[in-house]
Amino acid sequence: MRKPLVAGNWKMNGSRDANRELLSALQSELDGLAGVELAVCPPAVYLPEVVEALADSPIEVGGQDCSDQASGAYTGEVAAAMLKDVGCRYVIVGHSERRDRQAEDSAWVAAKYQAALAAGVTPILCVGEQKEEREAGRTEAVVGEQLDAVLDAAGVESLDRAVIAYEPVWAIGTGLTATPEQAAEVHAFIRNRVAGRDPRVAADLRILYGGSMKADNAAGLLAHDDIDGGLVGGASLDAANFAGIARAA
Ligand code: G3H
Repeated sequence: MRKPLVAGNWKMNGSRDANRELLSALQSELDGLAGVELAVCPPAVYLPEVVEALADSPIEVGGQDCSDQASGAYTGEVAAAMLKDVGCRYVIVGHSERRDRQAEDSAWVAAKYQAALAAGVTPILCVGEQKEEREAGRTEAVVGEQLDAVLDAAGVESLDRAVIAYEPVWAIGTGLTATPEQAAEVHAFIRNRVAGRDPRVAADLRILYGGSMKADNAAGLLAHDDIDGGLVGGASLDAANFAGIARAA
């Protein structure tokens, strides 16, 4: 039985005041909610404060990225061990915004994934196709390549300590959510691909959906067996909306 996970990716949003307000609203909205795991991923500079604010809450905290290196002369980077040190349970790796803007390729993402595992932080590995790739019928080829790069580097059993997020790039921040059927089809593809290497790992693996997920479309997506939660961007900045998704999960 896979416990759903709903994680909020705040991206480059927030301030100390806004974070305090959001976290306090979130804690009241989510008070007493059981059966779902929750996490928020604020910008790196706010992580220690957010961890502290959530000290008495079941809501976990995650980073939005980590270095592929353990430590050293890597200006501006944050090591996975540092995320662990300040209390993070999760870290997002391979988000499409970084694959795109920071030119992170699958090999680099795989190295970040391994660095997270080595530090004892659970990677949330993002995979997903661009609009043109979907239109060209290449969704499975693209997602399969992104997945295989990690499985080849880290081994299929590493997924026991990881989470996958399927995020169709064309649905991120656009208001264009994948239909539950479109999402479920790719989730099933991912699970089958993992099952090809190890059916037990595949059965236990949590695969989240991300891409304009909101309180009012979450139930339809989460009704599918292969969709085990969400990686939520925009809607995670609104306590009521995020809580609605959490309740749907
Ligand atoms: O990491 C979250 C995804 O990029 C989804 O973002 O919910 O704003 O579309 P969104």
